[in-house]
Amino acid sequence: MTYLESIDTAAAAIRSACGEAEIGLILGSGLAQSIALENARTIAYDKIPGFPVSTAPGHQSEWVCGELGGKRVCLMRGRFHLYEGYPMEKIALPVRVMKRLGVKALIVTNAGGGVNAGFTPGDLMLITDTINFSGINPLIGPNEDALGPRFPDMSKQIDRDFLRLAHTVGEEMGIALQEGVYMWFSGPSFETPAEIRMARTLGADAVGMSTVPEIITARHCGIRVLGISCITNLAAGMLDQPLTHEEVLETGARVKEAFAKLVCGIVRKMEL
Ligand code: HPA
Repeated sequence: MTYLESIDTAAAAIRSACGEAEIGLILGSGLAQSIALENARTIAYDKIPGFPVSTAPGHQSEWVCGELGGKRVCLMRGRFHLYEGYPMEKIALPVRVMKRLGVKALIVTNAGGGVNAGFTPGDLMLITDTINFSGINPLIGPNEDALGPRFPDMSKQIDRDFLRLAHTVGEEMGIALQEGVYMWFSGPSFETPAEIRMARTLGADAVGMSTVPEIITARHCGIRVLGISCITNLAAGMLDQPLTHEEVLETGARVKEAFAKLVCGIVRKMEL
C-alpha cells in the first residue's frame, strides 16, 4: 500500500465508524478527558488501519467525532510523540487523515513547561510561533505533491484570525491568556536547566515534546491552525524541585474546565 492509500484507508475506517468533521482537535497530556462532544461516536486507534496507539501516560487511544459549539468536530484523545519511537510519517498520519475527512481548522493543544518567568503553572498560552529543536521534520522523505508543496511556507504557522478570536473569547469568558513561542524538544527526558536557559535566549516562552510536527503537517496540507499550551509546570531549573509527569497531569486536571470552556467558545465562533 502506498502512503497516500494508507491515509485513505484510515480515513475510510473513521468515516464509516464516526463520520467526517470540519474542525480537528488534538488533546494533550492531562487534557484528554477535558472535552465532551455531543452525539459522539468513537473508534479506538487499534481499529483504524495503520494507526499507532498512544503509549504515553495520560493519553488515551481513541478518535471521537461529534458536535461542539454547533460544529462538526473530530477529536483525538491521545497523540503520538517522537519519543515513543514512531517514524515521522506515523506522527503525521492523523493530521493527513483529518484533511481527508474534511477538516479545515486544527486546534492543537499540549502540556508545556513555562520558560517565560512571568508564567505560572495553570496558565493557558496561545502559541504565536514555534521553534523546532528536535533535529527532525515530519516532511522529511519523498514529498507527496497531492498533499502539499515540497517547501511549504511556515512564516505564519498560526492563523492570525484564530489567534485574535481566541483572545476575544478569552476576554469575554474572563479566562486570562498568555501568548508566546513554543519550542519542541524530542523528550522523553525533561530538559536540563542549561537547555532551558538556551531556550529562553532563543526566544522560547514554553517547551514541550509535541505539537510542532502536527502544526508543520497541517500547514503543509493547507489546514489552518490554532495552538494552546497548558503551562503545567515551570521548566527545569526555574524552581528548586524536580519535574514529574504527575505534576503535568495534575495541573492539566486543575485547568481542564477553563480550557474546555475556552475551546468550546472558540469552536463556536470559528469562521471556516
Ligand atoms: N518540558 C517538556 N515537556 C513538558 C514539560 C516540560 O517542562 N511540561 C509539560 N510537558
